[in-house]
Amino acid sequence: MTLDEPSPQGKRKRVLVTGARGMLGADLCEVLSAEHEVRGVDVEDFDVTHVAAVGEAMAADRPDMVVHCAAWTDVDGCERDPERAFLHNGWGTWNVAQAAAGIGASFVYLSTDFVFDGEKGEAYTEFDAPNPLSVYGASKLAGEEAVRSLVPRHYVVRSAWLYGARGPSFVRTILEKSVEREEVEVVADQLGSPTYTRDLARALAEVIVGGRVVPGTYHIVNSGACSWADLAEEALRLAGRRTRVKRISAAEWDTPTRRPACSPLRSRRLELQGVPGLRDWQKALVSYLEEVG
Ligand SMILES: NC(=O)c1ccc[n+]([C@@H]2O[C@H](COP(=O)([O-])OP(=O)(O)OC[C@H]3O[C@@H](n4cnc5c(N)ncnc54)[C@H](OP(=O)(O)O)[C@@H]3O)[C@@H](O)[C@H]2O)c1
Repeated sequence: MTLDEPSPQGKRKRVLVTGARGMLGADLCEVLSAEHEVRGVDVEDFDVTHVAAVGEAMAADRPDMVVHCAAWTDVDGCERDPERAFLHNGWGTWNVAQAAAGIGASFVYLSTDFVFDGEKGEAYTEFDAPNPLSVYGASKLAGEEAVRSLVPRHYVVRSAWLYGARGPSFVRTILEKSVEREEVEVVADQLGSPTYTRDLARALAEVIVGGRVVPGTYHIVNSGACSWADLAEEALRLAGRRTRVKRISAAEWDTPTRRPACSPLRSRRLELQGVPGLRDWQKALVSYLEEVG
């Protein structure tokens, strides 16, 4: 994964991926490497909050496109430390976007369903107005705004409820708990769009990096919607575990963070450009379990 060679003309791009050690970033680097020249960077390469380091790295690498996955994704941590949340997710994104704009690179920013308040009562499209309930959601929205204001050719891609082979996730936690427990308590009154990082990485590679759609804001998630409890039950059933799910309300769950009650995402802008959405979340979950064995 180097950017040492000059960028060839045509489809092949030089792509810089931040947060490359993270759950999505790692899958994305692997998938993108099949067609593009990819450099994955993480905190040890440069901290996105350090403006000079970001500028130097970008000027040295001169990618055609930056995919900014790096973020502080600890939702409860963000709630407890808003200053750090906005530093990493708002200011950090500002730095990376500004540096990308400075070298004329296009920009892909990963955002979240947590920018919505969940009051709509049905799936959110890209045309709905954000209204985050949490510090994490507000800090990611600040990142979206930085990208829109700084980089002419940008893609803001909102996804949701990610799980993948490379990182801690809700699905992994449930499966781990099931080794020791007969019952797990899971919130049943929050709905969303669980999304497998492999599916999202492939869609980012083909549709966004591959240039099949015009710049702008996109929702990319596995199809369908469910509650955390539904997701836990399906994961346990598919994995052949006997652990029961005790369905509880969000009010019963001990967390400092207000999460949207209903934030499934609909990929309306892909639909409008004739690009099919991702497969159902249940099918994706089968593939995830096959991948992790
Ligand atoms: N997880 C979800 O459910 C979800 C849903 C929707 C959207 N997203 C968005 O999708 C993207 C990827 O999510 P993910 O779950 O794959 O994240 P992740 O596993 O937490 O990975 C994020 C990566 O960013 C790095 N990072 C954090 N702060 C940094 C900084 N200041 N400078 C440089 N690197 C930094 C982290 O390094 P350390 O580990 O060393 O901190 C980590 O490797 C994020 O932008 C996230 O907001 C996630």
